[in-house]
Amino acid sequence: MAGLKIVNVVGARPNFMKVAPLWEAMRAYPGIEPLVVHTGQHYDHKMSQLFFDHLGLPKPDVYLGVGSGGHGEQTGKIMIAFERTVKEAAPDIVLVVGDVNSTIACGLVAVKLGVKLVHVEAGLRSYDRTMPEEVNRVLTDQISDYLFTTERSAHDNLRREGIPDERIFFTGNVMIDSLLKHRDKAARSPVLEDLGLRAKGYVLVTLHRPSNVDDRDVLAGLLEVLAAIATRLPVVFPIHPRTRAKLGEFRLDRGLQRLPDLKLVDPLGYLDFLKCMDNARLVLTDSGGIQEETTVLGVPCVTARENTERPVTVTEGTNVLAGRDPERILAEANRVIDGRGKIGRRPELWDGRAAGRIVKVLWDREGRGAPGGTD
Ligand code: UD1
Repeated sequence: MAGLKIVNVVGARPNFMKVAPLWEAMRAYPGIEPLVVHTGQHYDHKMSQLFFDHLGLPKPDVYLGVGSGGHGEQTGKIMIAFERTVKEAAPDIVLVVGDVNSTIACGLVAVKLGVKLVHVEAGLRSYDRTMPEEVNRVLTDQISDYLFTTERSAHDNLRREGIPDERIFFTGNVMIDSLLKHRDKAARSPVLEDLGLRAKGYVLVTLHRPSNVDDRDVLAGLLEVLAAIATRLPVVFPIHPRTRAKLGEFRLDRGLQRLPDLKLVDPLGYLDFLKCMDNARLVLTDSGGIQEETTVLGVPCVTARENTERPVTVTEGTNVLAGRDPERILAEANRVIDGRGKIGRRPELWDGRAAGRIVKVLWDREGRGAPGGTD
């Protein structure tokens, strides 16, 4: 009989690489019973199943299958389904990661049922409440019992919001655990040959934030930047389903297909994408996690956003915040292509062992002494 039952929640693509090392670290404790619940927020094969395969995550114990919808509808559906799951599974702890709608939805359900809530990647703040993720982060942190942070700035943010110090633990970055574990395996992926790319001879792009892709003029401006970059180096652009839908809706997709050095491809699996990042001359993105991954890989990153909730990637890493003005983004991209990209260093505790530190804290405080908790 396990001493500590932990439900680990995954919902969207950026959750899978965070939960994989946590699940593995939990399995090393005979007294912990880790379960994986997938809300189904992301459901396309290339946004979900492929990541389970590459990361060695088990088939989820429970799949809620909620799918897409407006924020209210999606969050509500997750809550209804997850409440049933928690009642049936009766865990001691619900663990959520990151800042997606599944994070806040499952967090709320847990605390209302009196189950302890753990938030991994707590305390990040863009101070931009128009970002849905910012609202998810602030609210999840307010209701969590354990808050595990990835950088020191997060602790200051949490303190300002009145979170007691005893709940906050600076343990490092679980997403980097996955990256370091899989980097060698990713190096064997044939993706560069398949896409006709040379190491350090291309630019990798991802864009999916509503603020960049939901407005026709903004998206058209970004595509002009990509077309200008593609006159210098091939550009590979794995397209998120949201962005693909917007390109079609705004009729911006046709012109793009005529640019031979702008390669629009489907979302890539974890290992292929990691290889593409590792070998890119430049990564241009609006993602949160990619800012961190490029910093660890030592690859220059230009972020097409006005702010970042991950300031350590700018102060210590390879990241440059370029805002949303196309001219500025192009200028920053050209600087990197000309060989004047930032050189950074790896932030503190981004060493591949964050998950072990987190699980040790949970076991020491919640597992030891519980029925079945022997040491
Ligand atoms: C979500 C997260 C975002 C994260 C991103 C990573 C929230 C609020 N946002 O954004 O923080 O950076 O995931 O990918 O949780 N779709 C599909 N197939 C899928 C998933 C989505 O076609 O498997 C399409 C649907 O049209 C859907 C749209 O993409 O309506 C947006 O999906 P959603 O989960 O609402 O948000 P993301 O933009 O993916």
